[in-house]
Amino acid sequence: MQPRPNPSAAHSALSDHFRRVRQASLALTAPLSPEDCQAQSMPDASPIKWHLAHTTWFFETFVLEPHEVGFQPYDPAFRVLFNSYYHGIGERHARPLRGALTRPALATVLGYREQVQNRVLELLGSSRSAAVHALVTLGCHHEQQHQELMLTDLKHLLSCNPLQPSYAKRWPLQRAGTAPLGWHPVDAGLTTIGHGDDGFAFDNEGPAHQAMVHPFVLANRPVTHGDWDAFIADGGYRDPRWWLSEGWDWVQRESVDAPLYWRADGHGAWTTFTLHGRVPVDPHTPIVHISYFEADAYARWLAAHDQRPIRLPTEFEWECAARSPHQLQPLQGLPLLGQVLPGNFAESQAFHPMPLVPRSDGKLQLFGNVWAWTSSSYAPYPGFRAAEGAVGEYNGKFMVNQQVLRGGSCATPASHIRASYRNFFPTHARWQFSGVRLACDV
Ligand SMILES: [Fe+2]
Repeated sequence: MQPRPNPSAAHSALSDHFRRVRQASLALTAPLSPEDCQAQSMPDASPIKWHLAHTTWFFETFVLEPHEVGFQPYDPAFRVLFNSYYHGIGERHARPLRGALTRPALATVLGYREQVQNRVLELLGSSRSAAVHALVTLGCHHEQQHQELMLTDLKHLLSCNPLQPSYAKRWPLQRAGTAPLGWHPVDAGLTTIGHGDDGFAFDNEGPAHQAMVHPFVLANRPVTHGDWDAFIADGGYRDPRWWLSEGWDWVQRESVDAPLYWRADGHGAWTTFTLHGRVPVDPHTPIVHISYFEADAYARWLAAHDQRPIRLPTEFEWECAARSPHQLQPLQGLPLLGQVLPGNFAESQAFHPMPLVPRSDGKLQLFGNVWAWTSSSYAPYPGFRAAEGAVGEYNGKFMVNQQVLRGGSCATPASHIRASYRNFFPTHARWQFSGVRLACDV
């Protein structure tokens, strides 16, 4: 006979997880000044202060308001100021003007965080509601998503400063050799895609369903900065043969000639901006901060040069490979902070992709380091239904004009990623830690 679930123990474990997630957000701000937390460098990015407030707003709005007895808002004005995109909640402050919110002060936002956090913990201590449990769990994963955005938005902000400041220098920028590009066959056939019932997943990861994956091979490592240097040197950004029509228009319009943050040093070499400051481009490091257009163009260029049907993988192919046994293995040579993580995630505190030494056992190390662009457009799985109410706006309404990325990055919390996880961004976006791992038809 199966032991009956103990709601009290489940809520207690969730309280601990909730505390850890909230603390992890604050820990990211430790090297920052109030001025660092205030500024907004572009409409797509948000100030750190806004992230801290918005993640709190999520718990206040979706957990406390419907479930706390005698609910009173911390400040009624915050309902509008820190609403990101939920029309079901009401008015929103304009996204490009988030940096103009010099009031409330950072200290007020931190007080808001503390009060709401205590109220959520009190609710978790007194409630046995499955709905509360589900919403707090969703709020924790939402906050972890924003932890990655805090790092990517901050990186863009600091890159705009002529001083090229570092966020933190807490890790060695490791260098290692790069193995030649090799190809790993993946078991094909009718395969289950999407999340089952085992633990948390966002609604866009389900329902689990069957998909046909035809035989293909996946690269033994991501494309590296050194690989990309050859693409640039061969005129890759100046040759329309490699580019989708919209991509070529984007290259022309934006005068794109290298990945985001790359800068020619005037002596024939490139530097790139990292959260460690500006550094020489390391040819062994996985390429990062490229758009879908660039990833696709690189694949077309390499296919022409190698005379092979090289291309981006579909998200189904990527998931099929990731579900192969034992893919969640430690990265070789990445013992950071006294522990070996199953990939280079935010907890390694590298906040930069690491050279990936292919493993002799053929394990592909698909998780962490850089998000992998896929050729799949972000669309609902068969049978997908968004949740009722405003919280149903979380994912479903963005299912157009975006591409799926898989696997997580060096800025993703390790407990936030899984084989079914679907990230998504527009085809021109490149301020996320986005890279590419190639596939090839057989
Ligand atoms: Fe959000």
